[in-house]
Parts: sequence; C-alpha cells; structure tokens
Amino acid sequence: MCGIYACLGNSDATSKVLAGLKRIEYRGYDSWGIAICNDEIEIEKHVGKISAIEKLSLADSNNAIGHTRWATHGGVTQKNAHPHLAQNGSFALVQNGVLENYQELKKELQKDDYKFQTETDTEVIVALLEKECGKTIDLEKFSRTIKRLAGRNTILVLTKTGEVWVYRQGSPLIIGQGERGDFYFSSDLASMSLDAKKYRVIENQEIIHFDGKNLESFQSKDLTPKQIIFQIMDQQALEIDKGSFAHFMLKEIHEQEESFLKILSKSEELFPKIAEKIELSRNIYVVGAGSASYAAASIVFNLRANRKNVYHVPAYDSADFAAIFNEKDMAIVLSQSGETADTIEAIEQMKTKGVFIVSVVNMPSSTLMNMADIAYPLNVGAEIGVASSKALTGHMLFGMALADYLENKNFSFKKEVEKFSKQLGEWFGNEKIMNDIKKIAQLLSQKNDLYILGRGQLLASALEFALKIKEVSYIHAEGFSAGELKHGVIALIEKETPVICLVNKLTREDMISSAHEVKARGARVIGIATKNEDIFDDFIELPQAEKFANLSSIIVAQLLTYEIALIKNLDPDKPRNLAKSVTVK
Ligand code: AGP
Repeated sequence: MCGIYACLGNSDATSKVLAGLKRIEYRGYDSWGIAICNDEIEIEKHVGKISAIEKLSLADSNNAIGHTRWATHGGVTQKNAHPHLAQNGSFALVQNGVLENYQELKKELQKDDYKFQTETDTEVIVALLEKECGKTIDLEKFSRTIKRLAGRNTILVLTKTGEVWVYRQGSPLIIGQGERGDFYFSSDLASMSLDAKKYRVIENQEIIHFDGKNLESFQSKDLTPKQIIFQIMDQQALEIDKGSFAHFMLKEIHEQEESFLKILSKSEELFPKIAEKIELSRNIYVVGAGSASYAAASIVFNLRANRKNVYHVPAYDSADFAAIFNEKDMAIVLSQSGETADTIEAIEQMKTKGVFIVSVVNMPSSTLMNMADIAYPLNVGAEIGVASSKALTGHMLFGMALADYLENKNFSFKKEVEKFSKQLGEWFGNEKIMNDIKKIAQLLSQKNDLYILGRGQLLASALEFALKIKEVSYIHAEGFSAGELKHGVIALIEKETPVICLVNKLTREDMISSAHEVKARGARVIGIATKNEDIFDDFIELPQAEKFANLSSIIVAQLLTYEIALIKNLDPDKPRNLAKSVTVK
C-alpha cells in the first residue's frame, strides 16, 4: 500500500530518490516525503501528489530515503506522512505495512511518558526503536526491537551517522547496486531499473545494514550473517513516460492490442506442466483479489466447461474454504503486483495444507511469483494505472488459452488470438465506435447508478465492468447475472435508469428477454455486442471475434470509465483512496 525508495552513496541521492518516488507513486499517493542526512537529518514532507511540488527545499546529499503513503492508521496529513523522525533526532524511519499490535505498544510507551505527535502506527515503531537504542542503533538492539513488531512490517531507517538499517517482513523491498558503488532500496524492481545494474530481493525476516560504505545481511531469528548475491538487472527500464497518451491508463488500454500474444510466449513451455498437474489434482482453486478475483471467476468458467472440479476462491474469503484444502489439490493464483496481502495470505494458508501452487503474476521477482511451484509470467509489461486493464484481460486470456490447451492438447489457440489482436487494433482505429463510446460516457457521467447484466462467460465481465466504473468514475455500478434480475434487482429500475447488456451468441436469447424486461420499466438499454438489436436504445459494437467478447466488452468498460473520468475532471491514473498494490490486509 505504500512505496519506499532510497539511495545511498551517491552525491545525487536527493534527486534520485525524488525521481524514484515518482516511479512508485502508483503504490500510494496520499502524501510523500524524503529524509536526507548531512550531519543532521533533514526531512521534507507533503500531502498530495509529487507532481504538485515544483522544487524540493532539501539540499543534495549522499544518502536519502523516501516514502509514498496510502494512509492506514492516521489521516492524510503532513504530520502523518513519512519519514518519521526520532524525537532525539538520531534517525528517520519509513514503513510499509501495518503494525498489528500498535495499541498495546503505544500504551506501554505512553506509560514511559512518550508523547506521541501523530496518529500513525509508524510512530510507535520509531518510539520503540528510540527507547531501545537511544542515539545509537546496533544489531542487537535493532533485532530486539523488530521482534516486538506484529504484522507485515517492512521498515527502513536512516541514522544521523549515515547508516541504514532495514528489516523486511511481508511488504516487498529490493536492494539495487549502481555502477559507482552506490546502493538503492525500492518496493518494486522495475522502479530501480534506471539506477541499479544489479539487484537482490530482501527475504522475509532479513536484516540489512549499510555502514556508510558496505552492506551486510543477517537472519533476524538468530543474527546469523547471510550472503548478499546480486543478480543482473534484467528488468527492462520502467516505461514511465506515457508516450503519446495523456494517461498511463489510456496507454495500457491500447497496449492490449499486443499484450495478448506476449502472454502466450511461455505457453508451450509451461502449459503441459500445468495441464499435467490439473489432470492429477482432486480440486483446483483459482484465487485472486479485486479485478484478479473476477479474472479468477472467468477462468473457473473456462475450466468448468472442461469438466474440471474447480472453485473460485476470492483471496479475502479463502479461510471459508480452508477446511477442504489438501495436498491432492492445486491452486492457480492471479496477481498483477504479486504483493497483494490478501492473496499472499491465502496462498500461505494453502501451502500449509500442501496445495500445489501455480502463479500467474505480472511483476517479476514478486512475492507470489517466488511462492509458486510453477510461476507463469503474465508478461504484459509494467502496468502503472492503478485500475487494472491489460493485466486483468491478460489473466482472463490465460484462462481461455489454458482451457483450449486442455481440450485440444495443441497451441492452435494462438492463431485465434493473433486474429483477435488484429481486429482489436482496427477497432481502436474505428472513429465511429470510439465516438459512440464518448457519447455514452457523456450520458453516464450524469448518472448516479447504473447496472450491467451478463451471463455465462460474460458474467465475470459484467462484474469487472462495474468495478472499473466504480473505481475510476466514482459512479455506483452493479454487475450481476441477468438471470438474477427478476429475483429482486428489477425493483430498482426506473425511467432512464441505464442498464448495460453484454451480449454474445450463446447468451443472446436470454439477454434480449432481460433487456425487454428492464425496458418495460423505463430503463435506457445500452447494448454491447458484435451486432445491434432493436431493443437497444444505444449500442457499442464489439470487434467481430465473438469468442473474445468477454475481453472486448471489458475494454469497452475501460474506455468508457476513462472518458467519464475526463468529463468529471478526475485523474484516471490515480483514483482517490486507491493504491496499485494492496500490501496490507
Ligand atoms: C484493479 O482495477 C483494482 N484496483 C484492484 O482490485 C486489483 O485488481 C486488486 O487489488 C488485486 O491486485 P493484484 O492483481 O496486484 O493482486
């Protein structure tokens, strides 16, 4: 939910951290701050987005640490922003995660007469460290302090002497090494690919110490030293420019023209292994959170059609299924970031029961990728827009391709994807259709409620359609099975209520009758299909590849919500209250 970026041993550290924070700002953008150490520790913190500040007041420094915040404990204020300074001025600290036992620790510290200045759980860690270490941190004292922290807490501390102490528990942190003996820390790999030539993922319960020149590592349990072996940075530099697009979201929507084929690049190597596991498994659980949960529902639909014993497990509800998990089962876990706390927790639980894990993750070297028995790289390239676009449709396509392989034991599906991608490119270039989308965005931007109906393979698309509208245009939207309409929801339909109907050949008849039912009650029926129908008041034509209507209808949702956000003067890349990677439960 937050982002950490640090630069050590480089005379340009302050501006490198500022630039690094901009590359990880998608992880949380309520507030941000930087601490530098030039004999004394100086801190500059701001509420709002980094782009709002023209120039830093901080001087240059050899060592700087930075943080972008998505508020968990304590409001969005400058005081609550990180870094937090020890009251004795000896160190500054940034945290990614949640201190689950912060109330009891806070009470204990208040008994020692500590006067808290902020509402954050982070300040409790600062106070604990200051109480334990006074003005000098050493390995013993640092390790005693972190042993008292409950929950997923990754912290990085810059001391007045120019040393850095790091502890990783849960939320990701990666070390990078530059060309001039400089070091970097970041919450994600791609963001440091412009600064570091080598990298090493910090493991859970690992302590890293920078003594001003060199790095050393320890296992926090017993302080045994660990090796730091760097890998070559093979991550392509994060494309942080939007190219000719006004927003990352629009760029990533259009990138779906090529992304589907990139996803299949590993299918010949990995599908046979995954298929073998599926044939041998008793149950198959498809797991994800948010959009990835809707993608999971879509994959369940594909595999069930393949007669597999398959369950959709929303990550946050995995405890409800725990009683049936066992070593004869397998899970397919979907995640763009690979760092979603709910999803990690679900997979940790499954692994304790011996469930075989296949991960389909976009972010290289991420936690969920490293937890898997088979890691399938989604490979759609960096997705910066907070609302998922190419990763979500990529997960759905993965499921369609896998189901096709299970059925036909060949890779002919790739040809169909090539054809669809070509049609999608032409569709994006169809001015009439793009204007139809803008027109309907204008209509919907005035509405407070809208409903999206889907059935069969398009049900998951209807759910994702609704989420896109909610999270980017802030309009209440509800996606549900068209069959459900008559069992209550239809009571909500009034004159001019917008009802979007997602139609494909298989569900056309039922969908047309649902459209008649809502029309009879005054609804405005917006049809999204490969061909128009008399019952539709408005119509958006999909690419003719009917088999991929589940993907293209979601691409309509992405474009619609993007246009509505522009009309309402909202930021489609960084919607309010959200963060790209939900690394806290
Ligand atoms: C995407 O539009 C959402 N903002 C969100 O639901 C996201 O899909 C979810 O948090 C899961 O993220 P992940 O794919 O990185 O695990």
